[in-house]
Amino acid sequence: MTDWPVHGAITGPIVMIGFGSIGKGTLPLIERHLQFDKSRVTVIDPDDSVRALLKKHGVKFLHLPITRENYRGILGPLLTEGEGQGFCVNLSVDTSSLAIMEFCRGIGALYIDTVVEPWPGFYFDKNLGTEDRTNYALRESVLAARRKNPGGVTAVSCCGANPGMVSWFVKRALVNLAADLGDQEPEPKNRDEWSRLAMRLGVKGIHIAERDTQRAKKPKPPGVFVNTWSVEGFLSEGMQPAELGWGTHEKWKPANAGSHAKGCGAAIFLKQPGANTRVRSWCPTPGAQYGFLVTHNEAISIADYLTVRDTDGAALYRPTCHYAYHPANDAVLSLHEMFGQAGSMQEEHHILGESEIADGIDELGVLLFGHGKNAYWHGSRLSIGETRRIAPNQNATGLQVTSAVLAGMVWALENPKAGITEADEMDFRRCLEVQSPYLGPVTGAYTDWTPLTDRPGFFPEDIDESDPWQFRNVLVR
Ligand SMILES: NC(=O)c1ccc[n+]([C@@H]2O[C@H](COP(=O)([O-])OP(=O)(O)OC[C@H]3O[C@@H](n4cnc5c(N)ncnc54)[C@H](O)[C@@H]3O)[C@@H](O)[C@H]2O)c1
Repeated sequence: MTDWPVHGAITGPIVMIGFGSIGKGTLPLIERHLQFDKSRVTVIDPDDSVRALLKKHGVKFLHLPITRENYRGILGPLLTEGEGQGFCVNLSVDTSSLAIMEFCRGIGALYIDTVVEPWPGFYFDKNLGTEDRTNYALRESVLAARRKNPGGVTAVSCCGANPGMVSWFVKRALVNLAADLGDQEPEPKNRDEWSRLAMRLGVKGIHIAERDTQRAKKPKPPGVFVNTWSVEGFLSEGMQPAELGWGTHEKWKPANAGSHAKGCGAAIFLKQPGANTRVRSWCPTPGAQYGFLVTHNEAISIADYLTVRDTDGAALYRPTCHYAYHPANDAVLSLHEMFGQAGSMQEEHHILGESEIADGIDELGVLLFGHGKNAYWHGSRLSIGETRRIAPNQNATGLQVTSAVLAGMVWALENPKAGITEADEMDFRRCLEVQSPYLGPVTGAYTDWTPLTDRPGFFPEDIDESDPWQFRNVLVR
């Protein structure tokens, strides 16, 4: 495809914070699909190695970290200089999404990020209690900011592949399932109708079910953490407590589960690191597989969005929702090595660039289960080969993320006064339309697999045979 559609125009300056694996892949998509003035683009990153690539793009480079102390002074002048509305694209680690988002809204600039990132120190602060280190707490801080200042300039929170695109897949999967189960109601138009549809269809839970089969040309050396996207980002979230949206059908809870006294109440956490918590799940390529229950914003936002409440506010219906992530084999080995050393992290980190990958796909979708057709997976099956053909500077994992950032930016330009917005609240059709050239085959598949398939084996197990889709059967213990 050479005639790429132009989806909108950014009338003011663009500031990109962070130019790592996701930043490097996002800039070419912005260049391809949005109109803007190149002389008004600034990229900020403390890593000087990105200088040469930014020179090729012909954009300005500010070589420094954004910090708690400098963010107002640096971003303010950059985002308000000259005519038009500025756009801040935050794709960094170690910067506070909340602080930057609120500041941007205050000066009238649009904003987008892919995660609720805190200032440095949060993830590994031994003085914080388990509950305080959760994504639930981070998300609640953004929801509180929205309650304090409703409406206003659009800031899109958590709009990558997941969190982000998978919330759009959930809606499309619900629509497909409704058709296949013969549901006669019109397509939902608001949160209340979506949650009632999920309840009507009997969806007990949703896995964000991912299998990354991208294989490196060279085997992972000992002592190096290898991944297909930010190692720093993965380690931070992987060492947070495992967290999941907690469904109303659940009859059992792990003994180390904790709940939250304040906030939406949609999730629980486990007092153990998510990257060392395994769950049983299913993707089309491998079939049944183990995934890691790494905490993610979408596990909470999707469960919250699909909650049906009674008139007193008590939850009548909520699906269980969590990540079930089988990362690239090298990342699985890296985790095994790290947890073998009591979670002591490898000092060397490596993100596989597209030229270092031999083959493989990132299969990322949503598995809706517990309904009349058992389980339905819907998602993107993007290969490294296709990624190389259609977009520069990234692997398949990256392109699923960067194309979602692009979709979120287009949505923000088309809805500039929506206030702080999560992916669940955006127009899923429009966003997936923008993203679709970059997702490879987007397919749906039913399966008769359940977490009890072929169990118990040789040994007795603590399982609930009355309902295969209990978390008791999903969690590997
Ligand atoms: N929602 C999703 O689907 C999704 C997927 C992948 C990554 N992410 C998130 O996107 C972010 C970027 O991921 P990535 O793979 O590009 O990470 P990366 O580690 O490759 O890059 C992060 C970049 O941020 C820069 N940086 C560090 N401190 C900074 C500071 N104080 N100010 C400005 N820049 C700073 C680093 O130098 C680096 O270039 C991470 O927060 C990650 O968790 C989200």
